[in-house]
Amino acid sequence: MTIVKHRRQTSPCNDPGLGPAQPIASELAKAEAKLLSLLDSREELIGEICRYLVSAGGKRLRPTFVLLVYRACGGRESRLDDAIDAAIAMELIHSATLLHDDIIDTGTLRRGKPSAFALWGLAPSLVAGDYLFARAFELCGRFEEPLVKIAAEACIQLTEGEVMEGRLRRNSRVTLDDYMGVISRKTASLFRAGAKVGALLAGAHDATAATMARLGDAVGLAFQMIDDLLDVLGPEEKIGKPVGADLRAGVPSLPLVLGVEKYPALESLLLNGAQVDPAALERALELLRSADVVGRARNLALEQIAIAHQMLEVLKPSPFKDALARLINEQVYREV
Ligand code: IPE
Ligand code: IPE
Ligand code: MG
Ligand code: MG
Repeated sequence: MTIVKHRRQTSPCNDPGLGPAQPIASELAKAEAKLLSLLDSREELIGEICRYLVSAGGKRLRPTFVLLVYRACGGRESRLDDAIDAAIAMELIHSATLLHDDIIDTGTLRRGKPSAFALWGLAPSLVAGDYLFARAFELCGRFEEPLVKIAAEACIQLTEGEVMEGRLRRNSRVTLDDYMGVISRKTASLFRAGAKVGALLAGAHDATAATMARLGDAVGLAFQMIDDLLDVLGPEEKIGKPVGADLRAGVPSLPLVLGVEKYPALESLLLNGAQVDPAALERALELLRSADVVGRARNLALEQIAIAHQMLEVLKPSPFKDALARLINEQVYREV
């Protein structure tokens, strides 16, 4: 395992090249400070694990997205603190899923550093993940019941997505529909919920909130499709995770679902995963990096990007809407 030494350790809100986060930089900075303050526990080990993960960086894509939706839907200062708390809750939930996901996938590298699972093992990582989930609901439990329900439903879907993916592991007959079902639950659910909560906190009508949820869905789907592609393309120094992890774990990721139809040689690799020798794994990765597989995967992500742009059309012109458009576009060609 190579440890990445030069990976960015700060969150985007400390970064002068903020990109789409620029118009909400001050909100994000507040969110970041409060996020870090929520990680301490009476049990030192819990705080240590949570701080280790959260301070390791991360793109903070979900809080950026929630805050941009809030502002783009006309959200004002009156509920800004609530919107910031919602953004923090999304990052807390996301962080919890990372801790749990690395247990499930036996992920050894996260954000360019040894994962919590690799350093502390299963039980402490599991409990720290539960702790972060609980912190998220502690923070936003005061919101109106429908908002809390939206967040709870996202967490329910996250669990169902992980289990559904587990059920489909090492199965070469997984269809694109199966795949979409998995990523809708395990990844897009949080983007859907974040966008809907952001819109409702801004006082948007139900129809606009539903459109924002659809926007979140499309962004989340495209995001996971590209994550799957990056798992194959790497490099580790950029993605901060081991290359080929999905293949080794037998995860029906997008390149695999698309590649297995065309390259029957991939079938036994998908079935045998980690048991396969490194040379065979490298050959499989070469097939999955073929222009055909990469091109089809990107086109599927681009379809979601087009839907996301359509959803934006309901919003009035604003710098926040423009930033959302940039955030959407960035998902397709991102390298980290
Ligand atoms: C990784 O998410 C987990 C997935 C849903 C693919 P990110 O790529 O947003 O992780 P960080 O927060 O930037 O590390
Ligand atoms: C992410 O799926 C799902 C989560 C909810 C964390 P992945 O298994 O693809 O995430 P990475 O690639 O390990 O970050
Ligand atoms: Mg994983
Ligand atoms: Mg992945």
